[in-house]
Amino acid sequence: MLITTAQFAIGAVDLAAAFLFLFGLQRMSSPVTAPSGIKVAGVGMAVAVLASFLYVFSVEDAAKPFLVTNISLAVIALVVGGGIAWFAGKRVAMTAMPQMVAIYNGLGGGAAGAIAAVELFGGKYSGLTQLGVTLLGALIGAVSMSGSIIAWAKLDGVLNRPMRFKGQRELNALVLLVTIAVGGTIVFATSMRDFLDISTSGLIYGFLALSLVLGILLTLPIGGADMPVVISIYNAFTGLAVGLEGFVLQNPALMIAGMVVGAAGMLLTLLMAQAMNRSIANVLFSNFGEVSAQKQGAIKGELKPTAAGDAGIAMRYASKVIIIPGYGLAVAQGQQKLYEFVKLLQAGGVNVKFAIHPVAGRMPGQMDVLLAEAGVPYDMIFQLEDINADFATTDVALVIGANDVVNPAARTDRSSPIFGMPILDADKAKQVYVVKRGEGKGYAGIVNSLFYGDNCNMVYGDAQAVLIKMIEAVRGLGLPAAA
Ligand code: TAP
Repeated sequence: MLITTAQFAIGAVDLAAAFLFLFGLQRMSSPVTAPSGIKVAGVGMAVAVLASFLYVFSVEDAAKPFLVTNISLAVIALVVGGGIAWFAGKRVAMTAMPQMVAIYNGLGGGAAGAIAAVELFGGKYSGLTQLGVTLLGALIGAVSMSGSIIAWAKLDGVLNRPMRFKGQRELNALVLLVTIAVGGTIVFATSMRDFLDISTSGLIYGFLALSLVLGILLTLPIGGADMPVVISIYNAFTGLAVGLEGFVLQNPALMIAGMVVGAAGMLLTLLMAQAMNRSIANVLFSNFGEVSAQKQGAIKGELKPTAAGDAGIAMRYASKVIIIPGYGLAVAQGQQKLYEFVKLLQAGGVNVKFAIHPVAGRMPGQMDVLLAEAGVPYDMIFQLEDINADFATTDVALVIGANDVVNPAARTDRSSPIFGMPILDADKAKQVYVVKRGEGKGYAGIVNSLFYGDNCNMVYGDAQAVLIKMIEAVRGLGLPAAA
């Protein structure tokens, strides 16, 4: 079969887009190259969008007027969608990033589901494989869309509690079975259309509606704090749905982009679950934060508050300080003040490093992004496995807005829900200062024995406010900067 020049051009542009996606993704593996990786992948996306417009030149003349109307609609959609995303992206707060990812992921799933719906209503397929793949793409895309919207609502506090009821799992299984049965009926009716006059549109509407309901039902019972993992799972789903629709449309850029997103989403989910020492089933079906507190062993010792200024001065006189940022630093937006404080310490000759736990904060890489935003150089930032041995020779560990990621129960208390999770060994430093607002628990909902240790003092207050006091106290010393 001969291919036309237009088809050849589309294939070549698709291939270039796929290459840019993969190259961009590869660059995202390090914080140093990640910003350029994001730009490269963005260019890849623009190239892929451009390739879709080349389809105009590859179709028969009779179809062109219809396509031209579609193109004006597509351009309007691109301008409106791109414009909204541009402004939203510029305005979003770092702590609201998971919500933004959730909503965009939902839109991706919805787009894949919509492509599938167009193909299904078009009724072009009689081949079982193509029809089956289209239905699977529609199911996964729709589940991802409605599930991601619930995830967004939970993260944003619109829905603020898990919704569980008796027989919920059975209901979910029933809805899944009915959805599969309706899908099977669509396949059967389509394969028999030469012999029987059965309309499938009602069935297709039912199939899509059931898929959307399934996404809602599956996500409602999961606690808000587990949403980042859930979003990552739905991200993998969206990638899979897009890849399947790419197969249906025979569009290589969609296939590759979808599979890359699907694989990356699945790997990320596994890594997050592993870093929390939980299985994916445990995330999806357990009531983690609510039950965990009851399982904890007794903790000895007492909390010892100290003033922010005193802690700041003690760090100024230390020779080695390791800072452990956590979710609370992002909430307080204290990253700029933290780096200002660090620069003061460094000017006084203190050796300062940052220790990052793989699941500190509420989304992967959140702490790296936060510190990068404040201008902290990458060579001061160390991942768990590269810095843990350093704590034993450290004068001060400053835990700022972090909790679970430094809880020694993960090492010692078999009854703890986080037992086995790798943690940053802050408790091994000579002195520990913990900055937090009060006695609030972390994501796992458990008390932290580190806070009660003999070598630990609590500095109560909002992270940013505490840092301002620390800076004032160190400046107040009026010491000359180190040479
Ligand atoms: P958490 O254990 O959640 O602790 C954060 C602490 O910050 C809280 O104890 C809170 O105490 C304090 N805090 C909140 N707002 C503050 C503010 N304005 N100023 C000062 N402190 C503030 O955080 P972490 O140590 O970063 O651990 C992350 C947890 O999230 C882990 O359990 C992890 O498994 C989980 N998780 C992570 C991810 C990813 S991918 N990062 C995804 C899902 C779940 P107060 O209320 O007393 O201030």
